Amino acid sequence: MLARWGLDYVPVHLSDLAAVRRCLADRPARVVWVETPTNPLLGIADIAALAEVAHEAGALLVVDNTFASPRLQRPLVLGADVVVHSTTKYLGGHSDVVGGALVTADAEVAERAAFLRNATGAVPGPFESWLTLRGVRTLAVRMDRHCDSAAQVADMLGRHPAVAQVLYPGLPSHPGHAVAAGQMSGFGGMVSFRVRGGEEAAVAVCGRTRLFTLAESLGGVESLIEHPSRMTHASVAGSPLEVSADLVRLSVGLEDYRDLLADLEAALAAG
Ligand SMILES: Cc1ncc(COP(=O)(O)O)c(C=O)c1O
Repeated sequence: MLARWGLDYVPVHLSDLAAVRRCLADRPARVVWVETPTNPLLGIADIAALAEVAHEAGALLVVDNTFASPRLQRPLVLGADVVVHSTTKYLGGHSDVVGGALVTADAEVAERAAFLRNATGAVPGPFESWLTLRGVRTLAVRMDRHCDSAAQVADMLGRHPAVAQVLYPGLPSHPGHAVAAGQMSGFGGMVSFRVRGGEEAAVAVCGRTRLFTLAESLGGVESLIEHPSRMTHASVAGSPLEVSADLVRLSVGLEDYRDLLADLEAALAAG
């Protein structure tokens, strides 16, 4: 969208700091934009290290903290300049409001953002703001439950014969586990996994769950399941951001985790 206004970007593996340094040396940038954990592969990047690399190159570090929420990760404390959230997700928490937030401790960024917001009119209405604030009141207890249940789900999937790989930063086998453990106070409620049998098997699992509802979005009280390559990430097919077709993404909700495990086990067994 923004390319039409002259904005350009280069995708880089942000867990590879040397690659980030090389990229910034080749193509000076104003902003390093990182999502951690990433959607939908749950990749982890080291926020403090990236802040150093970005600042050395004269760039701002912007962190999309949507997956973690402020309960689990505080990027400004780790050196980031700006934090963005889709408040549609965990902050609202009930899948009934759409919104976004930009958080910064940088007075210049704050002033420019406030001017732009006022000038362009991209502001939330009072009802949306009220719903979001109401969600924020239970953020801490919701996130703790999301984390506990997601850990149960990741553990079960890791032992399931129909599952080829589980992507969850709470697993010690995850390549970003140590960094996540250092910068997050919990590993979040999002779990992705690759199904043995490829695309058709993954799509079939998404269609068979009964408690996990087939839907995009995430971070609400109810559990959701989706097939990224046909749904949320269909638009990046053919780009460096393409995801494999055997991937399934879960937003683990607040239901009893035993019901969630039973639902997934039934959906995987039926194949
Ligand atoms: C990590 C992340 N950031 C930003 C967004 C965009 O959110 P919204 O749809 O509220 O604009 C999403 C949506 O899925 C997301 O997962």
